[in-house]
Amino acid sequence: PKLYFILKDDSVRTLDVAPEGSVMTAALLNNVPGVEAECGGCCSCATCHIYVEPEYIEQLPAADEAESELLDFVHAPRQPGSRLACQLDLAAIPDGLRVRVPVTQH
Ligand code: FES
Repeated sequence: PKLYFILKDDSVRTLDVAPEGSVMTAALLNNVPGVEAECGGCCSCATCHIYVEPEYIEQLPAADEAESELLDFVHAPRQPGSRLACQLDLAAIPDGLRVRVPVTQH
């Protein structure tokens, strides 16, 4: 699927990804700035926080309890579209998904 990252300066990075791994692994493999993923994807660091653009929120599988709890500890403000990129399976995302990288991410 195609995956769009809206970066801090509002520029857009377009990725054409295989349906393997997660939005986080796709970001790391393609050097998308702002997705840190310190824990390597085991849902414990919250540094892979991204904002899903509003029109896609409903098209994604809902966050499970672990992801939802961790989202309370993200550095940038939690918003309706807040997700952990490591928990978004590329096999389950809609084609053309647009996500925004938080301006502050630690
Ligand atoms: Fe650490 Fe997603 S990479 S929570």
